[in-house]
Amino acid sequence: MLKSLERVEKALRWIDQTRLPAVLEYKESEDYFEIIRAVKRLEIRGAPAIGIAAAYGIAVAVEKARVFEPGFIRRVGTQFKDARPTAVNLSWAVDRVLSRLDGDKAVESAAPLWEEAEAIHREDAEMCASIGTNGADLLNDGDTVLTHCNAGALATGGIGTALGVIYTCRNQGKTIAVYADETRPLLQGARLTIWELMHENIDVTLICDNTAGMLMRQRKIDAVIVGADRVARNGDVANKIGTYSLAVLARENNIPFYVAAPSSTFDNSIESGDQITIEERAPEEVTQGFGRRIAPEKVKVYSPAFDITPAGLVSRYITDTGLKDGGRSQ
Ligand code: MRU
Repeated sequence: MLKSLERVEKALRWIDQTRLPAVLEYKESEDYFEIIRAVKRLEIRGAPAIGIAAAYGIAVAVEKARVFEPGFIRRVGTQFKDARPTAVNLSWAVDRVLSRLDGDKAVESAAPLWEEAEAIHREDAEMCASIGTNGADLLNDGDTVLTHCNAGALATGGIGTALGVIYTCRNQGKTIAVYADETRPLLQGARLTIWELMHENIDVTLICDNTAGMLMRQRKIDAVIVGADRVARNGDVANKIGTYSLAVLARENNIPFYVAAPSSTFDNSIESGDQITIEERAPEEVTQGFGRRIAPEKVKVYSPAFDITPAGLVSRYITDTGLKDGGRSQ
């Protein structure tokens, strides 16, 4: 299985996901600013992966600067938290690393920070594996699943969440076919999910985002499985823009809508999705994504990166601790 990111001595190494599918390029850096930049540019992306990157990034910063004061370490943590606002895994992972600080006392070395980052990474891989096992019970041999964005190995420290379920089914001997939405505007589906599933020899078909409804109506989809960037206490889900529309279509067509996410994505500090900050991306990602202008100069653009799916549209949450009922009756 692909490793989207890993520690290499005092550096972080990651797959530059902006280069996929054309080139599988690894980058490596001992400079935490470069890691923050990689998170902002979506070289490293997906809620669990950006959390892991931030955790390692703090260790990288302290190792390189040889500054062991908690003030510096907390400032680095804040810089990581500010890189992307929606996925709670990012601030969760930063807070976990910062929990290794003891008040105003300087740390003796970066070792405890590396240790915490490695634990976060290892546990994420374990949570992905459990999500896979728990979710596989929901699918039957021969089923066809629709997924959105990329919630696979590229987005996590393990086998992925939504795609982890597919890999686990395959390992259990079930044949599952996948339709992947292209996921406008940055095409995480077309570029990343398709590439990742083909790499793993899973039967996958690329569709335009607006094809999903027709396929559901034709009864060609048995289940929709997506990942999440944050799940509020009431079960509302923030995930890649377009997820909400899929959930509405799934309910209309009586197709189960599953959200696969590790415990680190559940944010019990907020009551509902209304309190989730939705990241807005640069207009150029829409008007001239990947360098080609497709809309007139100076056009007004609104480009939220995520939307909120109300809990009432979710059939089940597939988590590392088990399956939880959503607000939909089936
Ligand atoms: O903007 P991205 O590519 O980071 O968005 C990613 C998603 O929306 C994923 O579905 C989510 O982070 C879950 S990844 C296991």
